[in-house]
Amino acid sequence: MKKWKTAISFNTKEETYIRGYPLTQMIGTLTFTESIFLVLKGELPSENEKKMFDAMLTAVIEHGVAPPSVTGMRNILSGGNDLHVGVAGGILAFGKYHGGALEDAMRFFQESVKDEEDVYGLAERLAKKAIEEKWRISGYGHKYYKDYDPRSRKLITLAKEYGFYGKHTEFAVAFEDAIHKLKGKRLVMNVDGAIGAIASDMGFDYRLGKGFFIIGRVPGLVAHAFEELTTEKPFRRLDEETEVEYTGVPPRDLPKR
Ligand SMILES: CC(C)(COP(=O)(O)OP(=O)(O)OC[C@H]1O[C@@H](n2cnc3c(N)ncnc32)[C@H](O)[C@@H]1OP(=O)(O)O)[C@@H](O)C(=O)NCCC(=O)NCCS
Repeated sequence: MKKWKTAISFNTKEETYIRGYPLTQMIGTLTFTESIFLVLKGELPSENEKKMFDAMLTAVIEHGVAPPSVTGMRNILSGGNDLHVGVAGGILAFGKYHGGALEDAMRFFQESVKDEEDVYGLAERLAKKAIEEKWRISGYGHKYYKDYDPRSRKLITLAKEYGFYGKHTEFAVAFEDAIHKLKGKRLVMNVDGAIGAIASDMGFDYRLGKGFFIIGRVPGLVAHAFEELTTEKPFRRLDEETEVEYTGVPPRDLPKR
């Protein structure tokens, strides 16, 4: 028994084999998305899996300067760090409200749906429970999108077209509708929710969820890192006068010793 084991790839002096396929055959033949699918799932995607997976990664490639990962990363870089330090810092900002929600949403869909036949009844039951118990439901809600998340809409349309509108996605949509009906207020299915549901219907394990977000968003983070390093002045700092409010105790003297 050797010390380390992996089923992903191995190298010889002449070739690298990824999931059994020679890398030199993959180069120039497979797209990057197909290669990502192969590395993660172990097999090549079908034509529709390839299109769906590509759309899912594209949907999260970039979403402005505002999210915690980008502002956090730009602050790290402005302190005088290299690109890779900033990008790593941006990834570290992916938590249960940003990026990490994808994994939690996937888990919720997979553990809820299981062998359930009536996903609509299930959605109503769980929506009622979620409201009563005041759950913060991963994959739903957004700071910016309050009526619908356009990325989710597009992905759901494509899931129907490519044959991945299965029980998990049906449940995810029904759950959004059930919350709306019960609360009279919309809690939009965000892009993490849509990807989580579709990835579940594609047979992915929920523990890969955060990985999908990281893989999709890193190009955006790298672009922001490069922009910060090449166009912004170092040392971003809040303006104490206009941007910082002190809420602590007023100035006081130390007790006499
Ligand atoms: C992303 C998120 C932080 C945005 O929050 P927001 O729109 O600023 O919402 P707030 O935290 O101000 O809450 C507004 C109301 O919506 C409710 N709400 C928002 N997101 C909710 C969720 N996911 N589940 C349940 N209720 C939610 C809040 O409880 C609050 O209700 P109230 O007005 O009755 O008190 C929030 O929706 C969330 O935590 N979602 C789950 C994590 C997630 O999917 N993140 C990925 C985002 S792409």
